[in-house]
Amino acid sequence: MSDKKVTVLDVQQAKKEGRKLVMCTAYDYPFGLMADEAGMDIVLVGDSLGMVVLGLEGTVEVTMEHMIHHIKAVVQGCKGPLVIGDLPFMSYNISIQEAIRNAGRLMKEGVCDAVKLEGGVDFAPTVEAIVKAGIPVQGHIGLTPQTAGALGGFKTQGRDAMAAKRIIDDAKALEHAGVFSIILEAVPGLLGKLVTEAASVPIIGIGAGPHVDGQVLVTHDLVGLFDKFIPKFVKQYTQIRPIILEALQRYKTDVQEVTFPGPKHSFNMPKKALTQLRKMVHDS
Ligand code: KIV
Repeated sequence: MSDKKVTVLDVQQAKKEGRKLVMCTAYDYPFGLMADEAGMDIVLVGDSLGMVVLGLEGTVEVTMEHMIHHIKAVVQGCKGPLVIGDLPFMSYNISIQEAIRNAGRLMKEGVCDAVKLEGGVDFAPTVEAIVKAGIPVQGHIGLTPQTAGALGGFKTQGRDAMAAKRIIDDAKALEHAGVFSIILEAVPGLLGKLVTEAASVPIIGIGAGPHVDGQVLVTHDLVGLFDKFIPKFVKQYTQIRPIILEALQRYKTDVQEVTFPGPKHSFNMPKKALTQLRKMVHDS
């Protein structure tokens, strides 16, 4: 477990020092604890929880209540890393006032350290207002899952010169609006490099190649707990699902065959109490 809390300033300093930032997602207390113990710089309570924890089709249905519930649990286990709460779809899109109110709820009720929202140039005024209210904001550009439908699905972004230029403009607009870092998702590696060179805030890539300031992955993808679909940019470091499945199947067999619980997992009654009980039952 880390003995020092990572701050927004530490994250910004990492880029200046050329130190790669490591970020993963978590949605509950045990994974928050493990992310802490593994020494993550940043832990994101992402709205990806809609898919990997709640079993929904995408992130659109995720609510503020879902996010607050899960952020609270992660924060209990995550004492070292900077914990970022994701603003869900439509919690910051309707008005700037509502965006500030909802960002404030994630901080006050979830007790996270910063918030994240998706969008570039169009959301710069929203970011600026949230930052002015005293809340650190992380941006998210390139592939933005909440509006993936409008982007034509979960596709690589910035593949032609015009689209690539728009992503660089998005990064610059967010930087001017005051974000402390930016997630860049699903773009060609060379564009990842160009965005990273153009921005003075850390660019954290997910499917954006190696030339960015850090990497983020969805933890359930990297440990092989969610295998409905595996994006090209995911590296699976282990396959935990088959291990859990096998344990559950063995438990089922043991119960059916009465090999569990055995003496090791059962409680004994003192001999004297047992004799007294037998007598009481017999006399009644
Ligand atoms: O919700 C999430 O987990 C994310 C990551 C993919 C960066 O936004």
